[in-house]
Amino acid sequence: MTYFRDTIEKMAGYVPGFQPKTADVIKLNSNENPWPASPKVFEAIAELTSLDFQRYPEAAGDSFRAAAAQVLNVRPENIICTNGGDDLLTICVRVCCDHTRPMAYAQPTYSLYPVLANIQGCEAVEVPRGENGSLDELAKINAPLTIVCNPNAPTCDMLPIDALAELAGRLTGVLLIDEAYVDFAEDNAIRLVHDFENVLILRSMSKGYSLAGLRFGFGIASPKLIAGLMKAKDSYNADVISLAAATAAIKDQAHLKSNVEKIIAERTRLTEQLTSLGFEVSPSQTNFLLSRCVGCDAKAIHEALKKQNIFIRYFSLDGLTDKLRITIGTPEQNDKLLAALKDVLD
Ligand SMILES: Cc1ncc(COP(=O)(O)O)c(C=O)c1O
Repeated sequence: MTYFRDTIEKMAGYVPGFQPKTADVIKLNSNENPWPASPKVFEAIAELTSLDFQRYPEAAGDSFRAAAAQVLNVRPENIICTNGGDDLLTICVRVCCDHTRPMAYAQPTYSLYPVLANIQGCEAVEVPRGENGSLDELAKINAPLTIVCNPNAPTCDMLPIDALAELAGRLTGVLLIDEAYVDFAEDNAIRLVHDFENVLILRSMSKGYSLAGLRFGFGIASPKLIAGLMKAKDSYNADVISLAAATAAIKDQAHLKSNVEKIIAERTRLTEQLTSLGFEVSPSQTNFLLSRCVGCDAKAIHEALKKQNIFIRYFSLDGLTDKLRITIGTPEQNDKLLAALKDVLD
């Protein structure tokens, strides 16, 4: 006997990266930011009053929408606030998909997409990710919801925005461009929102803005798409603390820029160092690296580092079993990782 729908009973559920309980570890397994968020975030939280907590928060997060619209050069009606980028994915799957309306994406990509398809009881049409992101195949499938992660996790690469524009023009359904890592990339797709009614861009405050613990993300799209998504969100999906903090964070673009620059500098250095240790490192437009272990056992390295309280990510998935995903840490963390890797390899 089961209490659940068949699909829930059968599915495995999303497996998050390991979260160690103590702080004295080197945690490079969840693509978090190693640098603190803007001090303005903590000032904004400290300024909240007891009345702010007594009352419900702004239902649509209008303060954040106004601030983000100004920074991103769009209108507030182009923005939906969500409880992390994952909440935007959930809402979007809820409004676009059912058992007759599949989603489509190229694999490997963010492992939450098939989980959400399972929960919603919709088919997830997967194509292997080719060099051009398999956009032509996705256009031919023309699913009610097509998801392209750009830059892609875990492969770190980025497709040209012109290619996504072409895909958007060929699709009759929604094109969700997951830009969770775009703060570390050279380009972004916001300009497509002005030209394509069917483009929805996902943004996260967890990566560039160092606020993974807060849970705040947002979507950018045409007012028509935003209005549809608004119907299916929880009434108060962003709480008073996350709205105040995220608003302060997005206003402090100088802080974002300075943290991103530090991470990009370390990304270059870590890429060089890992290459000299014998890894094949894919060029990255994100805050992590995917490194192929040449002539070594990726899983064994992952386990050996874990014993030294250094956490990186290993995926036992097709095409990834010889690779390690490493989040860019501080220079000190990266140095410790490199020293430990050298020992393990020796
Ligand atoms: C590709 C991708 N999209 C979306 C998210 C969701 O981010 P969050 O819910 O923390 O904003 C993540 C988180 O790791 C991710 O890797």
